[in-house]
Amino acid sequence: LSTKEVDLSAVPVGQAIKVMWQGKPVFIRHRTPAEITEAEETPLSALKDDVARNDNLSGKLEATDDARVTASDGVARPEWLILVGVCTHLGCIPLGTSAGENRGDYNGWFCPCHGSHYDLAGRIRKGPAPENLPVPPYQFVSDTVVKIG
Ligand code: FES
Repeated sequence: LSTKEVDLSAVPVGQAIKVMWQGKPVFIRHRTPAEITEAEETPLSALKDDVARNDNLSGKLEATDDARVTASDGVARPEWLILVGVCTHLGCIPLGTSAGENRGDYNGWFCPCHGSHYDLAGRIRKGPAPENLPVPPYQFVSDTVVKIG
């Protein structure tokens, strides 16, 4: 498995970047405290897909915000949300990473192909996509450098 190290020190709070890993886009968002709170306070009953879908966790866990931001060391870092940026409907790349892009109704990402809305934890909330955006395997090798894969 190929891995990729990404330096996050230049990603300001409230912004996101897209990097490529194994030929797929990976979104990394530096969430604000308000965004974290909103994601944490979303009840599981409001989710279309209540499965965590985080490759760093074993077992079928619920899609709490914590379970979406946990690295392979088992530590949740709520300020960093890391997702494979491929819509779980038919594979388009959702908008919402670059400043000014449509983030959809839940302030996360919006897939323009058929109108899927993802929230601030990358969870599908509205539209035809069946599953949350997957969380790839990753670990932090320092406070600001993450290794994906
Ligand atoms: Fe994203 Fe269809 S591919 S909504």
